[in-house]
Amino acid sequence: MTVAGIDLSDTEFWGLPLADRAAAFALLRAQQRPPFFEEPEVPFSEKGPGYYALVRYADVVEASRHPQVFCSGKGATSIADLPTEFNEYFGSMINIDDPRHARLRRIVSRAFSPRLVAKFEDDVRRAAATIVDDLLVTGPCDFVQHVAARLPLKIICDMVGIPGDRYEMVLANTNIILSGADPEFLSEDLDEAVIQLLGAGQALADLVTSLAAARTEAPADDLVSALATANIDGEQLTSAELASFFILLVVAGNETTRNALSHALMLLTQFPEQRALLLDDLEGRVGGAVEEIVRYASPVLFMRRTLTQDYTMNGQDYREGDKVVLFYYSANRDEAVFTDPERYDITRSPNPHVGFGAAGPHYCLGAHLARRELTVMLRELLARVPDITAGEPDRLLSSFINGIKRMPCQF
Ligand code: HEM
Repeated sequence: MTVAGIDLSDTEFWGLPLADRAAAFALLRAQQRPPFFEEPEVPFSEKGPGYYALVRYADVVEASRHPQVFCSGKGATSIADLPTEFNEYFGSMINIDDPRHARLRRIVSRAFSPRLVAKFEDDVRRAAATIVDDLLVTGPCDFVQHVAARLPLKIICDMVGIPGDRYEMVLANTNIILSGADPEFLSEDLDEAVIQLLGAGQALADLVTSLAAARTEAPADDLVSALATANIDGEQLTSAELASFFILLVVAGNETTRNALSHALMLLTQFPEQRALLLDDLEGRVGGAVEEIVRYASPVLFMRRTLTQDYTMNGQDYREGDKVVLFYYSANRDEAVFTDPERYDITRSPNPHVGFGAAGPHYCLGAHLARRELTVMLRELLARVPDITAGEPDRLLSSFINGIKRMPCQF
């Protein structure tokens, strides 16, 4: 493999074996300057001017910390420029800058009240126990469907207030929205893909709009009730903001934690000595194992920023309007910060990974919840099925999500 042969915009690159992908990023990190790539083609938009790939830790951290220079409002979740309405519809606050971002984040953060958080702690424990009960009855099966997908789906739906009979519909639509270039979920015909994407967004928006109407009449102890009514400062989301935030929340809540859990089983299978270490002191080491899963897997592979002014960062000059793509997956393997980065090491300390984003205003709102879900699920699974192992994963073809669609498990 040579640097000249690496094209991060080529869909095929994202289908390479994981070890080859990691080796390619190591080559890119060894370059003097961030590499520049032409843009991939996507529905909705003309091919843009190209982008710098920020593959080093120091660049990802600095860009995240300076949102006035590296803005999200031109699109954070897509390399191509998409219409603003489209970005805000699907990405809500993740694709918005201050002051609007700060207002949205303030309102929704307050809705994650201590009472709600305490309530879902119990829910996570109960749900994880039920999932393992069912697994023991089912026997060897597809780990993604029977284990990894179930916990985040149930927890995010319960938090928001979505009834159980809608879980399947929520999962089907979040799968479409974050399907990347994978033809299993999204048509290869661009016009059809647009219709599928908008349909998925509309279905989720309709669901929350009807829930919000019901909760305004009869509030319950859930997030939609908290967000559909004004908070103590009299602030309230508009119905369009509520619909978009809800799409972001169910997509982000489902499509990330599920993949982290599947990667967890894959890593514990690939690194049996790390499993042995973990089983030796499950309580004491599970926290480190979870952080290392998020570093190693980097379930969200990148976010994009756009330069609002000319700027020099770590020796590279950028011009106003330049696009930069923050490859968390690569930053989390930067040899300057992580010794022996391709080694899954549950005792790694410190472990300042940027799997939830680097410090800055957009740092993952669900990081605490995701850590709880991963910790509780791993603890429950390994305490009761310590010999469970993963077979060959069927990976999602996407440059954005490090996804696993199916993966057999044995025990
Ligand atoms: C292992 C699981 C997860 C990973 C790896 C992950 C990763 C990320 C990343 C990389 C960002 C962008 C940070 C940035 O642009 O600086 C982000 C933002 C976000 N995440 Fe997560 N996430 C996870 C779980 C969750 C969960 C469970 C939820 C929902 C409860 C959630 C909700 C959000 C929201 C709402 C944002 C946007 C925050 C903002 O723009 O202010 N995430 N996440």
